[in-house]
Amino acid sequence: MAEPGVFEVIYSTRAMRRLKPDPIPEETLKKIVDAGTRAPSGGNTQEWAFILVRDPDLKRFLRDYYWNTWQQLRAKRMIPAGNLPPAQQRMLNAAADLAAHLDEVPVILLACAHQEYTPLAAMNNPRANTIVIHGSIFPAVQNILLACRALGIGATLTTIHCFFEEALKQKLGIPDTMEVAAMIPMGYPQGKFGPVTRRPVEEVIHWDRWGQQKG
Ligand SMILES: Cc1cc2nc3c(=O)[nH]c(=O)nc-3n(C[C@H](O)[C@H](O)[C@H](O)COP(=O)(O)O)c2cc1C
Repeated sequence: MAEPGVFEVIYSTRAMRRLKPDPIPEETLKKIVDAGTRAPSGGNTQEWAFILVRDPDLKRFLRDYYWNTWQQLRAKRMIPAGNLPPAQQRMLNAAADLAAHLDEVPVILLACAHQEYTPLAAMNNPRANTIVIHGSIFPAVQNILLACRALGIGATLTTIHCFFEEALKQKLGIPDTMEVAAMIPMGYPQGKFGPVTRRPVEEVIHWDRWGQQKG
């Protein structure tokens, strides 16, 4: 089957949270990560690593921490609990389902980045460090999401792991020098890919100066 064109992929790469347990072939996983590594990074340093978690015990470990964190956030009302517009409620229900069933997805990808941007280390500029570190991993993460979509695999960028990152790093033997920037559950989708809806482009473009929204 022909792969969809780039704009079709971009306009239909939604967060896909309800996934089938069917395994994803290793060659497909390599192709997805390889697409990730075609992304830019500051100074082309490529100080990244991508862990593909398939081991059932490790997936259960991730699920238990993720689900506990989800419930804690909910108890503290950091995740809203009802009275939401229908679209937001649907998203929240799907996110809760993903949290509860995380161990049932075939693969959980962890996108790891060096905690310090080595060329800037001597400058002691935390702001530049943060921008360049995250700016050097999220293009790869987006390439991975797009590659998944192009290959018919559902995926969601998640970040709840940052509440248990130390335990996660210890369990998986991730070096102290690295951080886990994103956790991406992946699997063949139960539903269909659909169009992404976003704010109208006219609302977010500023021509030449802030606030000048007519070209
Ligand atoms: C930085 C970031 C963090 C996110 N964290 C989570 C998360 O922890 N759990 C989750 O289910 N979705 C998470 N998402 C997914 C967003 O909720 C999703 O991309 C957004 O609602 C748009 O969804 P759509 O593409 O299906 O329209 C995250 C997305 C981003 C960019």
